[in-house]
Order: sequence, then structure tokens, then C-alpha cells
Amino acid sequence: MTEASRAPWRAKRQPTSQMWLTRRQWLAGFGASLVTIPAMKSAGVAKEPEDMRVLHARPGEIRLRGNREAPTAIWGYDGIVPGPLLRVRQGGELQVRLLNGLQQPTVIHWHGLRLPNAMDGVPHLTQMPVEPGASFDYRFAAPDAGTFWYHSHFLSSEQIERGLYGVLIVEEREPPLVDRDVVLVIDDWRLTNDGAVHPSFGNFHDAMMAGRLGQYITLNSEDLLTLAVKANERLRLRIVNAANARIFRFRIADHVPRLMAMDGQPRPPVAIAATPLRLAPGSRVDLFLDATLEPGAQASMFVDDLRGGELEIGRLVYKAGTRSRATPLPEPAPLPDNPLPARMDFAAALRLDVPLDGGGMAMMMRRRGMGGGMGGGMGGGMGGTQFSGHGLAPEQRIWAMANTASTGHDGPPLFTVPYGRTVVLTLPNRTAFPHAMHVHGHHFRVLESGDAPRPYWLDTVIVDADSAVRIAFVADNPGKWMIHCHMLEHQEAGMAAWFQVD
Ligand code: C2O
Ligand code: CU
Repeated sequence: MTEASRAPWRAKRQPTSQMWLTRRQWLAGFGASLVTIPAMKSAGVAKEPEDMRVLHARPGEIRLRGNREAPTAIWGYDGIVPGPLLRVRQGGELQVRLLNGLQQPTVIHWHGLRLPNAMDGVPHLTQMPVEPGASFDYRFAAPDAGTFWYHSHFLSSEQIERGLYGVLIVEEREPPLVDRDVVLVIDDWRLTNDGAVHPSFGNFHDAMMAGRLGQYITLNSEDLLTLAVKANERLRLRIVNAANARIFRFRIADHVPRLMAMDGQPRPPVAIAATPLRLAPGSRVDLFLDATLEPGAQASMFVDDLRGGELEIGRLVYKAGTRSRATPLPEPAPLPDNPLPARMDFAAALRLDVPLDGGGMAMMMRRRGMGGGMGGGMGGGMGGTQFSGHGLAPEQRIWAMANTASTGHDGPPLFTVPYGRTVVLTLPNRTAFPHAMHVHGHHFRVLESGDAPRPYWLDTVIVDADSAVRIAFVADNPGKWMIHCHMLEHQEAGMAAWFQVD
């Protein structure tokens, strides 16, 4: 990677910013690791081998607002949103060639996959950005069965909002007893009156507050999704929150789904009666849903509207006059375990406090004595209404982790941990907003007091304002891994870091 190869992009997007390190800073910051970054492919793209799945990141159009309204111009893998549904058998190898048909660089991150570091798709940390017209081959085995998703990790707050994401299913070796798999991707879109993706990217208000919230909510990019079901069928709903920043409360009326897995990892099944599920951006749940209503019935799927009300985003429509079986199936067995670390060594754990700071109202909170210090790179410089998106100049970063505002790849690691050691992170939220903290390359457990782990694994956890969450994981995946807020405007405005597993 030379200065010259970065220059065109720099000239287009960021004529005055500090986003690109000088070569000297780059070398100083990354040292020997530079040689481990896979080189960018040249524009001459080799013929793909068998089993290679090509994903072409390119513009497209979809009818987000129903068939009577004009379509919306999007960016999507193969020009659609969600992108193509990828499936691979547990332990099997996924081979994907990303072809960049956009006007700007991009990469693919495989969210929740415990994969080799070089395949993690983090620009400048694990690979160089894939330039327009170029390609990059991702190739890795999928160790865990479950529901995952893939998305751009370059200028994410714009590229994911415009539609660069899709779902990856890793199938259990023994398929569980369900009649059908149904993927449900929830997203919110900020649209103009004409239905275009609103160009208000780099909006400083969004960055300071709750992130980019859209007024238009879709399920699988549909205005109101209709899901045809048969009485007594058992569906496996794989639900993904693909929104930039919005936490959804999701529920299905008149049914009692069973929560079987979270963030791709099986958990003890639990019946969910009335309380909506709270889904962080980036997170997934697997529900088994028994269609227990009568033939001909209907039931709505709702999310909250952030104002105390609910919005119907989908509907189960029961086929009239028929059942798939006489009675619903008996209670399901738990999904088979994935090969996660069997135990954590809390006695020898690396323990670290990672306070979350910054954002709008931080100053006010500090005056009230609630907030913490915003040291390190947190300067003033909040003037102006635009921030420059990916790679903010340090003085424009308004969120911080552990007193450092970072893009997650431009400074020293938050911590370095030897392979195999248990890590316990305490995440106190000293801001006025919830954050959806995501760890790459590892799944973690949320700890109760006395280091008692909750009975599930996550890769993304909500940390509410004025509270703290403790998470623990075994650092069993060597490399450089990001940890960041999955509210993408927060991530880009400083709430991002990386750690090193040696
Ligand atoms: Cu889903 Cu670092 O991302
Ligand atoms: Cu956040």
C-alpha cells in the first residue's frame, strides 16, 4: 500500500482531513503487522474457482415502500437488500469473492463468525480496503452453526445504511426439527419524500445523539411483509437487526415463540410470552415459532415506534381450511452446542475497565457530576454541523472508550492478551445513550456479580445509560480484533478500539 494508491480516494472524500496516516505514522503504529495484511488485489480479477460465491457490491433499486411507490436507489450485494442469503454447513468452508462495483472502497465483515483474523474484513486492521473495480477473496471455515450476517465495514454508517448487508446461515450438522427457516431482517431507513436514501450522512447531530434513525421501517426490505403459514407448523425465525443505530423491541402478537439462540449461539430455550425482544443493532435471535392459531387467522409482527407506540411491520397469514399437522410439535430440544470455550479461568483473568464516554449531553452530565473524564484524544472542536464520516480527525471524535477516541485501527491496542487467557471487561456507560458493544472474533458471556456467567453467549450487548455491563471471553483467536459500538455513527465518531491476541 503506497500513498499513491490511497490518493484518489483521499482527494475525492477528504481533501483536508487527517484521516490517512502518513506512511511514517502508519509504520510506527502497526510495526511488523503491516506485512501480515493481505495485499489488495489488482483490477485484473482471476477466474473464480469452483464453489466460489461472487458477491458484487453495486448500486441497485428496490421497492421499499410497496409496489405503488417509486423504487429506492440502494447499494447492495448483487444489487439487492438484503444481499444473497448465504448458507454453509457447520465446519464447511465459505469462499466468497467480493467484487467492488461501487465508486468507493469497501470490504466485507462477517459479523459473529469466529474466523481467522485475516478474513475479518476490517479496513487497515486486517486487510486493505478493496478499491473500486478490485476484488478480494474471503475464504474460511464456519465453526459455529447459527444465524450470522455480513456487512460492509468501510464507511459503515453510509454503506450499511444504503444496503450493503446480507445474512449467512451456518447449518447444524443434524438439522433441528422445524418445518421451515424464515429469515427476517429488520432495518430502518431515513428516506427523502421521494423515497431516496436521505443523503444526510456525516450528520453531526446523529453522531452526537442516538445515531442515524430512519423513519421508515422494513422487514426484508418490504413495507409490510406477509408470511404465509399453516396451522401447527413450526418455523425457525432468524431475526437480524440491520439498522445503523436503532434498538428494536420486536414482538409477534398472539403467539409464544421460543428463544433458541442469540447472536448465533444456542441458549437454553425460553418461551417468550408478552415482553418484546430487545434487539441491538447487529444482533440476531433464533426463535422457534409454533403456528398455534386456527386456519385462516392472522397475527401481526410489531416493533416499537420510539414514542411509546408500535408499528406493524409484518403479518402471519394462516392458510384457510388446512393444518400442517393435527397438533403443534412437542417442546423442542435445545439446539446442539457450538464448540465454544468450555471454561473460563476467572482467577487468572485479565481484568480491564473500559468506560464509555462522550456524546451529546456529556458536558451537561459532567456538570451534574455524572460523567467521567474525557481525556486523551477528546478535544473540543464541536463546531460545525457536519462531521466527515469515516476516519474523523481526532478533534472531531466525540465518543470514547477507555478515555480514547479512535477509529478502532489508528492507535495502539486497547490491550494485548496472550492466547488462551480469559478477559473480563467492565463497560460502564457514562453517557446519556445506550450503546451496542460488539466484539470481533469472539463470543462473550455477560457476568452477574461474583463472575457468574449468564446462560448464553453474545457478540453484541446493549449497555444502557447509567449502567455497567461486565463481559468475559477467552482470547482464543489470534490477531487484531475490533471492539466497538455497533451504533455506526458512534463507532465512526470515536467509540471504537482494537485489541491484540498473541
Ligand atoms: Cu457488525 Cu465491527 O461489526
Ligand atoms: Cu453507541
